[in-house]
Amino acid sequence: MDEIKKGLKNSDEIKKSLESKYIGSEIYYYSEVDSTNNLAKRLAENGAIEGTIVISDTQKSGKGRMGKKWESPTGGIWLSMVLRPKVSLKKAPLITLATGVAVARTLKGIGVDAKIKWPNDVLVDNKKISGILTEANANFNTLDYVVVGIGIDTNLNPETFSEELRANTTTLKRELDQEINDFEIIPKLLKEMEEVYNLFKEEEYEKILSQWRELSQTIGKSVKIRQPLGKVLEGYAIGINNEGVLIIELEDGSFKKIVSGECINNE
Ligand code: BTN
Repeated sequence: MDEIKKGLKNSDEIKKSLESKYIGSEIYYYSEVDSTNNLAKRLAENGAIEGTIVISDTQKSGKGRMGKKWESPTGGIWLSMVLRPKVSLKKAPLITLATGVAVARTLKGIGVDAKIKWPNDVLVDNKKISGILTEANANFNTLDYVVVGIGIDTNLNPETFSEELRANTTTLKRELDQEINDFEIIPKLLKEMEEVYNLFKEEEYEKILSQWRELSQTIGKSVKIRQPLGKVLEGYAIGINNEGVLIIELEDGSFKKIVSGECINNE
């Protein structure tokens, strides 16, 4: 019961400062869940409206990309949203890029110089501060719903991360040298998300891509990409096409389109 009360209080706290029109119109707030993405998917299956948000103080089984775990103790923003774009499945990667833009812009808005590493890691000074996990469900080729999960390390101390993460991770508290009020950041994030997602719905893909390119620290650099089955490709990142696919030039001068993977050397 206490948990429910706490959840309602926190939802109200966010709703009070909401600047978005439909993203965040329904907020489910928990103190602990397995994964906000899993819960958002269950809500979407049961008809949750576009813009429904799930937030939790902690996640027992937070999920990262490429099957990795996402460490989610108290002190971060762990949030997922349900979107229902009526477009082809091929466009799903653009939603992930759009989310990267929204997160980076939110962080820039509070004075942090955030950059995006392809496809969707948000970095400050080359250290990861935020990750995005998009899970799409389609009927034939049309998207039914998309769950976009965002994790932002706000008030954590990097020293408390596992050894694997410690060297390459930072937090807002560390960058700004002060505690952050998540309830001030979440409404800003939802507003940025609504703006860029509206561009997506209006099929203004080029506008999203140009914002992404401006924030990107991958394009124009030599990169090493680990693909989902483990194969590593090295090349020069030429750009992203209008479906959000990364184009790299390999050493032999040929071009390769990369739909998904992880950029493992992007300084
Ligand atoms: C990554 O960079 O690997 C993506 C991390 C995504 C983490 C967020 S936290 C909220 C949402 N729920 C999850 O289980 N994962 C995403």
